[in-house]
Amino acid sequence: MSTHQMGFRPRSLMMVLILFEVFFNISAISKNASFDQNYQVTWGRDRILFFKHGREVQLSLDQSSGSGFASNAYYGSGFFQMKIKIPDRDSAGVVTAFYLNSNVGVHDELDFEFLGNRPGKDIVLQTNVFANGLGGREQRTLLWFDPTSDFHYYKFLWNQHQIVFYIDDIPIRVYKNEKVTGVIGYPHRAMQVIVSLWDGSNWATDGGKTKTNWSNAPFQAHFQDFHIDGCPSNPNIPNKDCYSTKYWWNKKNYWQLNRHQKKSYDNVRKKYMNYDYCTDKNRYHIPPPECLEE
Ligand SMILES: *[C@@H]1O[C@H](CO)[C@@H](O)[C@H](O)[C@H]1NC(C)=O
Ligand SMILES: *[C@@H]1O[C@H](CO)[C@@H](O)[C@H](O)[C@H]1NC(C)=O
Ligand SMILES: *[C@@H]1O[C@H](CO)[C@@H](O)[C@H](O)[C@H]1NC(C)=O
Repeated sequence: MSTHQMGFRPRSLMMVLILFEVFFNISAISKNASFDQNYQVTWGRDRILFFKHGREVQLSLDQSSGSGFASNAYYGSGFFQMKIKIPDRDSAGVVTAFYLNSNVGVHDELDFEFLGNRPGKDIVLQTNVFANGLGGREQRTLLWFDPTSDFHYYKFLWNQHQIVFYIDDIPIRVYKNEKVTGVIGYPHRAMQVIVSLWDGSNWATDGGKTKTNWSNAPFQAHFQDFHIDGCPSNPNIPNKDCYSTKYWWNKKNYWQLNRHQKKSYDNVRKKYMNYDYCTDKNRYHIPPPECLEE
């Protein structure tokens, strides 16, 4: 049937589009991204389930394999978020990871990693920053809610001034691009967004002393909200346009925490942070230079 037969003229098509936009709020629709829009399965396909028309994903881990997914694109800056519900009951040795990674060679990487726990023991979330291939910047925090019973947001802000790790809207870690980090390294390579559920039993829980009880497998983690606010970049050739203030996350009010954020940051670190590489004298007799700047 031709458009003529249906009685459509260009102007009525316009009207339909305008009405559609008013009623369905296109910006809201595009923010409600499904998995396929931004991500693809990378590992353990037969251990992944999709719910809610691709708006929720379940990863599984058993003794023979874990599973994971990654963004289709690499990004040169952005604001990256994931809604996560981690495995419940005994998850010792089971690592739920949400991270950014430039992947090849001397690499940059930003990590959120749940380290697994026996029931009744603390649930620990570790963060790390790699720049120019150098990591060893672990910090660990306890949580003020149960991450096994509800979804919470975990987020990275990454611009040329600071990297901020958030839990929901609370900043828990800041890595600044200042004089010293400028010399030793600040992540600048294009990175991919990666999510995985994997067997970390040789290192994760109590440094590997608490082992996975495989009779509780399969372990399952759930993910929602596959929207990405990022500046796409070729993985090998950083896109300098990604530093432009035309992107909201590069604008001046994202160059440092505001007073309100600083207050919640100080508060959460005082109450919940339970390990900081900056103060680990056994590892670093002299604190790494970036620690003196914070
Ligand atoms: C459309 O949705 C966006 C994102 O949720 C929201 O910020 C905006 O106010 C909405 N616009 C209208 C006209 O409702
Ligand atoms: C997102 O889209 C799904 C499927 O179309 C819909 O069921 C859900 O209510 C939407 N969520 C929001 C927050 O708009
Ligand atoms: C492993 O889990 C099973 C099933 O929950 C339980 O019966 C057993 O006692 C656990 N073993 C250890 C060593 O905790």
